[in-house]
Amino acid sequence: MLLKDKIAVIYGGGGAIGGATARTFAREGAEIFLAGRTLERLERVAADIRAEGGQVHVEIVDALDEKAVRDHADRVATQAGGIDVALNAVSIVHTQGRPMAEVGVDEFMHVITDNLRTNFVTAKAVARHMKGSGVILTLTAPGSRITSPGFLGHGVACGAVETFSRLLAVELGGSGIRVICLRSDAIPDAIPLSYTQGLFDDMTRRLGTTTDAWIEQHARQDTLLGRLPKLEQVADYAAFVASDRAGAMTGALANLTCGSILD
Ligand SMILES: NC(=O)c1ccc[n+]([C@@H]2O[C@H](COP(=O)([O-])OP(=O)(O)OC[C@H]3O[C@@H](n4cnc5c(N)ncnc54)[C@H](OP(=O)(O)O)[C@@H]3O)[C@@H](O)[C@H]2O)c1
Repeated sequence: MLLKDKIAVIYGGGGAIGGATARTFAREGAEIFLAGRTLERLERVAADIRAEGGQVHVEIVDALDEKAVRDHADRVATQAGGIDVALNAVSIVHTQGRPMAEVGVDEFMHVITDNLRTNFVTAKAVARHMKGSGVILTLTAPGSRITSPGFLGHGVACGAVETFSRLLAVELGGSGIRVICLRSDAIPDAIPLSYTQGLFDDMTRRLGTTTDAWIEQHARQDTLLGRLPKLEQVADYAAFVASDRAGAMTGALANLTCGSILD
């Protein structure tokens, strides 16, 4: 097992990526602490993990609230004896595909500041409990490399999270903590479970198409592999980089785009 006896905290643990990663981490032997806003969603993931014999704990935590996140991390560390792995899989609801003329400054800034805020707050809270080793995983999308208009806020937010993750690796390397940013393209089997369904529906309605048709065309035309990532592939990759087997890797941006962008 890749993560035997590791303690993993997953923020946004009731979401599509957070939930899938939690299930995979648990199968790989980790004890899971799910944190998020909606108890039912967290409990659904927890029930799956328990049904497979895994160990899981659930708590409502607002991942934008510095004190709430710090207190939760302190409780986890007290209960479990430390924290080995943390994933921030929190979604910041926003819109995409709208031209600058239609986007107000607060709307533009919100996706940037909230993405950075939750990543900063959660990383700071868990790093204090990673004694001599640990892994912090962040999530981004190809937004900063998009070549069509309408992605100013989202794209800048992606670029900011990627830069934050790199510099966080610099900041924490001396404490033995690794930081990896997972950059996935749209994940078709995540979309119906995720805030991205509404986001893509709004965008594709404007384009005069549907989300399913747009995703199918994007996979066929824009990727090297003619397909997009699956939830299971993102979760499997996260488990590997969180494990000691990837102990040489930090400050990296993992390309999980099936070749929609090249490094
Ligand atoms: N889905 C994709 O195709 C895709 C691809 C690349 C990157 N990403 C990125 O990956 C991240 C996760 O995406 P996802 O598809 O898994 O989203 P999701 O299914 O909507 O899940 C996100 C989770 O974050 C939780 N959350 C939101 N705000 C929170 C807060 N302030 N405190 C605590 N929890 C909060 C939500 O809780 P509630 O359930 O209570 O609202 C939700 O369970 C996002 O940043 C997204 O942009 C997604």
